[in-house]
Amino acid sequence: MKSDVLIVGGGVIGCSVALRLAQAGLKVTLVERDRIGAEASRAAAGMLSPQAEASEPGAFFDLCRESKLRYRDFVAELKTFSGIDAEYRDEGTLVVALPDDKPGLDEWAAWQIAAGLPIEKLTADDLHRFEPNVTKSATGAIFLTEDHQVENRLLMDALAVAIRRLGVEVIEQSAVQSLLIEAGQVQGVQLEGQKIYSGAVIVAAGSWSGALLEPLGFHIKTIPARGQMLAVRGSAFRHVLHSSRIYLVPRSDNRILIGATVEYAGFEKAITAKSIHALLDGAIELVPAMADAEIIETWSGFRPDTPDHLPIIGQTAIANLWLATGHFRNGILLAPITASLLTQSILNGHTADALKPFSIDRFASDCD
Ligand code: FAD
Ligand code: GLY
Repeated sequence: MKSDVLIVGGGVIGCSVALRLAQAGLKVTLVERDRIGAEASRAAAGMLSPQAEASEPGAFFDLCRESKLRYRDFVAELKTFSGIDAEYRDEGTLVVALPDDKPGLDEWAAWQIAAGLPIEKLTADDLHRFEPNVTKSATGAIFLTEDHQVENRLLMDALAVAIRRLGVEVIEQSAVQSLLIEAGQVQGVQLEGQKIYSGAVIVAAGSWSGALLEPLGFHIKTIPARGQMLAVRGSAFRHVLHSSRIYLVPRSDNRILIGATVEYAGFEKAITAKSIHALLDGAIELVPAMADAEIIETWSGFRPDTPDHLPIIGQTAIANLWLATGHFRNGILLAPITASLLTQSILNGHTADALKPFSIDRFASDCD
């Protein structure tokens, strides 16, 4: 039977949108060429950090913050549907100042302090009371009391179970080769040897979204921004820690994630000695006790970047063709708000106001 909406891509964005559409009573099909969560959404660090990664106020910051506010409930809801706890942790994030940092943390944090955001300045003594294993050369820290984390691999496991239980038809190991367009309207997708028809199509194919859209005349690129990471065994601290070089994310299963590079190397997943060396060096600088930690895993993934580093969410000039891609460094964080606002947009037939700054229309000559 023809679905109401077909979603291309089973990452955190495609799955979260599928969840909300199915809850709204629509018949949803999701096509994933590998398995659910195979790409960036499993590779991520799971930080829910509107503040730690923000450099200015604006529509993007507001979207990130609103999504963060929804996260605890999102994880709890997924647990009720799936039985899987995605381990939302709310210790907060410490951005640590080291002697050679430029610019100073105070300068970086000034606009957040002026905006009255949840942020506290810590002296070195305060910091070491919180986290005694942070290097004694630290000169202080900014405590972001509302920047938290989720175990994104468990999140993807929970989403995979939840959407099936809600009746989403999930087709894995099957790549969408092209979108079917007739008379200016999307009709469905072409798989190998099979066409699937649908009332609407959402492209949520992460870094590969551009490859599906460019043949349609969209002058939009989704650019893979490789992130290399590794995990070591350890539990030397409880908060997510940032320095100007790296971040460290402690997990509940006695792992510490060390991330991450941002590299433009095409779709090349290689783990390189230089990058792993730099990550380890930054980690040991921040928490010297990590020098003796056992390395248990290395990996890389492709953040879906765009020319202005902002996501592309909303409708297109082709009727019933919608986009939810380009979430770059914040796709885990942005999944709940993207899913809710895109579902609302599809039900209403036009893009929600909060998504308008993220329209594909912002790119010149977007469609021939
Ligand atoms: P993806 O997870 O890449 O999913 C896209 C899916 O589409 C893939 O599964 C792919 O197989 C499928 N697909 C592609 N083409 C086709 C096709 N033709 N047919 C069918 N299926 C197709 N974000 C945060 O919020 N917090 C973090 O701490 C964080 N840390 C990160 C650390 C690293 C190292 C990396 C790499 C990313 C990090 N991110 C983080 C960013 C986050 O991972 C991404 O923004 C997010 O996962 C993007 O989700 P997505 O669903 O758009 O893409
Ligand atoms: N948001 C963390 C990263 O993209 O590495």
